[in-house]
Amino acid sequence: MQVRIAHDAPTAARAGALVVPVFSDGELTGAAKAVDEALGGAIADVIASGEIKGKLAELALVHAKDHSFHRVLVVGLGESGKLEAKSLARYAGAAVRYLGRRNIGEIAVALPPQAKGHELAFASFVAEGAIAGAFDTTMYQAKPDKKTAVDTVVVLSDGFDVKGIEAGVNRGTILGESVNFARRLALTPANDMTPTILADEASKAARTFGLDVDVFDEARIRDEKMGSFLSVAQGSVQPPKFIVMRYNGDPGSKELLALVGKGITFDTGGISLKPPDRMEEMKYDMSGGAGVIAAMCAIGRLRPKMNVVGLVPATENMPGGKATKPGDIVKAMNGTTIEVINTDAEGRLILADALCYANKLGATKIVDAATLTGACVIALGHAASAVVTNDDAFVKSFLATAEPSGERYWHMPLYEDYTSAMKSDIADLKNTGGRAAGTLTAGAFLKTFVGETPWLHLDIAGTAYLDNESAWQAKGPTGTPVRAMVALVEALAGSPVIHANGAAKVGA
Ligand code: BES
Ligand code: MN
Ligand code: ZN
Repeated sequence: MQVRIAHDAPTAARAGALVVPVFSDGELTGAAKAVDEALGGAIADVIASGEIKGKLAELALVHAKDHSFHRVLVVGLGESGKLEAKSLARYAGAAVRYLGRRNIGEIAVALPPQAKGHELAFASFVAEGAIAGAFDTTMYQAKPDKKTAVDTVVVLSDGFDVKGIEAGVNRGTILGESVNFARRLALTPANDMTPTILADEASKAARTFGLDVDVFDEARIRDEKMGSFLSVAQGSVQPPKFIVMRYNGDPGSKELLALVGKGITFDTGGISLKPPDRMEEMKYDMSGGAGVIAAMCAIGRLRPKMNVVGLVPATENMPGGKATKPGDIVKAMNGTTIEVINTDAEGRLILADALCYANKLGATKIVDAATLTGACVIALGHAASAVVTNDDAFVKSFLATAEPSGERYWHMPLYEDYTSAMKSDIADLKNTGGRAAGTLTAGAFLKTFVGETPWLHLDIAGTAYLDNESAWQAKGPTGTPVRAMVALVEALAGSPVIHANGAAKVGA
């Protein structure tokens, strides 16, 4: 899919369909108003009929036989006074999915009048949402169903700052492609996405986008004394890989952000075997790792002034003859001994060593992302990821950056009680802390490996993939946490694109 810009007025747009926004309150404005006049009141009619109320991503199709745009897709953007730039991703995504299924190849998209002065952010979300909306989940089907046919999206710049729209389309294209890259890695089943294949994908992408990449094999992982990571890998015949991707955007600076992602390419639970019901979803257990790999690619393309390293410990969690058994004690890179109570709490075991390695590299900030706990899905459902931290100022700035990016995060506490729950009778730590507060005992476990480095842990178990499709998004992997990670790096680099108040939020 290609996103480009045209200077045509909406009424002169040439395309298989023209997409215009309407609001749930007030009069028709901007492109909707102009096109309504050109069509003799057809848009006002469809609204008066009650077919569409203007709620976000609501759709109504109006044919326009004798016009260069052939049809108008009217798409809701909600209340005009509460419009946020991120809603434009859903607006464009819904349009691409609806029209794509109706075999329309090229669409022109109008921006709402509120984009004026905020062109960069609005155009970025349109491009990102359009590309994410076209994500193809049919690669394994001989006769693909539900493929989206849209291959070209034209953003109409008439009346707006063209430079801002160009920069926004560029950023949004990179972000949308990166989100879809993460989704493809996650969607691909575990027989075709082993740790080796994941590492090859990361290496190939790193070369394409000018990042340094290093993949540690089992011998090197052993040399690094990552005994906790290896204890998870030893039950599988697939060799583990530790993926290191580097972007040095600010060579003069000692600041280094480490992005760490859980890369369990399949989680059977190990000897503490999971029940069969929905176990197939555990191919998604590398979503944090996929997110880190894709975010690194986006960073390599956007080139912010910032040093970032991406770390992905990748392995299967299998119950093979050499598998770790409940009660086994393993040793992490920093010397901490861990009593493995439940081999299904494997994510924290591989992250422990990755967090130690981030510190070894001299990380000055660490953000990890992981489909870590079922408890997180119980707590927050699929509506938000959990975030825990050892640094309140860091989480505050992260939330301010992440929220307008379109991903939701909810800060949860890390009381000392949760750390106490992870004390073992015979080792330094145990890997589970009972049924209560599962997300937070897992977070407290990770916290012991980050030392004093400001750190955020994102539990994306409920948000990395979804059971249901929406108007703007196929079901399956979502690309979380790519958007928030990229926005964070841009903010830390001092060049935030999507502001917490300002460019993103208008009309307030
Ligand atoms: N990958 C799972 C967590 C998960 C569950 C992600 C459901 C997405 C949906 C993780 O490795 C796991 O199995 N966690 C255990 C921890 C428990 C044994 C302490 C869990 O949540 O049950
Ligand atoms: Mn598990
Ligand atoms: Zn897992």
